[in-house]
Amino acid sequence: MWWDKPVGWLLFLLLLAGYFTRARWEPRLSSRLPRLASRLSKVSGRLGLANRWKLADQPWRWYLLGYPRVAARILWTWRRLCTVNGLSLSWGSHQQIIGRSVVQGTALRPRPPRLGLPVPTRTGVRVRVALHPGQTPTPFLAASNAMEHTWRVYSVRVTSPERGQVLLTASAEDPLTGRVSANSTAHGRLLTVNVGSLEDGGPWLIEFRRTPHWLVTGATQSGKSSLLAALVKALAPQPVALVGLDLKGGMELGLFESRLTALATNRPDAIQLLGGLLREVRDRMALCRQYRAKSVWDLPELVRPVPVVVLVDELAELYLTDGSRASRDEAEECGTLLLRLAQLGASLGVHLVIAGQRVGSDLGPRVTALRSQLGGRVAHRAHDSQSAEMTLGDLSPDAVIVAQTIGEHEQGVAVVTTGRQWTRARSTLVTASQAAAESQRTAHLTPELPGLAGKTERKETE
Ligand SMILES: Nc1ncnc2c1ncn2[C@@H]1O[C@H](COP(=O)(O)OP(=O)(O)OP(=O)(O)O)[C@@H](O)[C@H]1O
Ligand SMILES: [Mg+2]
Repeated sequence: MWWDKPVGWLLFLLLLAGYFTRARWEPRLSSRLPRLASRLSKVSGRLGLANRWKLADQPWRWYLLGYPRVAARILWTWRRLCTVNGLSLSWGSHQQIIGRSVVQGTALRPRPPRLGLPVPTRTGVRVRVALHPGQTPTPFLAASNAMEHTWRVYSVRVTSPERGQVLLTASAEDPLTGRVSANSTAHGRLLTVNVGSLEDGGPWLIEFRRTPHWLVTGATQSGKSSLLAALVKALAPQPVALVGLDLKGGMELGLFESRLTALATNRPDAIQLLGGLLREVRDRMALCRQYRAKSVWDLPELVRPVPVVVLVDELAELYLTDGSRASRDEAEECGTLLLRLAQLGASLGVHLVIAGQRVGSDLGPRVTALRSQLGGRVAHRAHDSQSAEMTLGDLSPDAVIVAQTIGEHEQGVAVVTTGRQWTRARSTLVTASQAAAESQRTAHLTPELPGLAGKTERKETE
């Protein structure tokens, strides 16, 4: 054992001294680390280790000092926390017959559910809990706030990845504060893009092959357009056709115009464009029938059409009416076309990303049907609880509560769901100049779509 040896004691004392004097050496070390790291990365780059050894990126402080403290707190307080929050159970009966009466009492020593070993993550701790027979994750969800205070961590998330188990994920501090740095991780998979960071420190991946259509909601200035920009920037280097419908004058998606196969900035253009996309979808259907394929991904690579991602910034603009018959008809047509695209496009390589402040039935015809087709949901800060409910309520009721805790200063922070799973994430901020530069750089990759030929010609003659 280490305490039998003088070297062990010396190391222990050094660690202790380092811990108590950390206020003095930490700032100096942090200022020196980047230089040291850049030197190391140059050396390691030459040795071919560039991506494996980045000293400045190591959360050493958390692993050495923070994690042991939080893990000790979790283990130390678990029994008491469970008793106070009603998570412990006793096996015996709480009732006794005394004379001719039944007396009900509280068990003296209820048993807490078995806690696994706290495992460190880059930004916190993960620990599994084995549920007692008859227990469900719901009381653990209710107790998550008590856990945050008891363990002095920023947040505790309760999920149940396996039946009979609860996974507690504690984040030591909010990993989504500040600006999420431009994430350059190239995943190399078609239609999989990295648009920011998740709360566990991992990349925020949007995988269109897994979740074909997405709905992005949030109050004004909450970060919807920024997410679309991050998405376009990440998709731009891939062999994908990008189509924009930006009815707020094209101010957001217009930045990427040279990389867009088509862009509509008013409703008549949008209807023409959606009609063209629907024709494209029908052509693809015919092609799949010809090759007896169930989706474009089953087609031989040589004939497989290019995937299309259609981005709509501010859905409400498509449904605006001034009460006149003509504008009502236009809104109706937009609703029908978008719904058809969503219904047919998923297996034919046509994907939708629709952003809007609220996406409810009050907006226009067929909006709720459209919403149910958009399986991926991203909810930024909402104006009111109903808006969050509209986006997340049908998929994940817990996520509705979390979405409402996003503050006004947390622009770009969102709750992301796919199926019943949800997590908090923050998009990478793309500046106007970065958008323009990326769009210029990748302009030569812009595919032509025959179904949108009329539209593309119009764009060229403008
Ligand atoms: N991920 C982010 N990180 C940091 N700041 C962000 C992020 N996303 C957005 N912001 C800030 O929030 C501002 C508003 O963002 P954005 O224009 O995307 O909001 P919006 O939801 O589209 O608003 P509107 O409904 O008015 O169009 C941006 O100008 C930017 O300063
Ligand atoms: Mg916007």
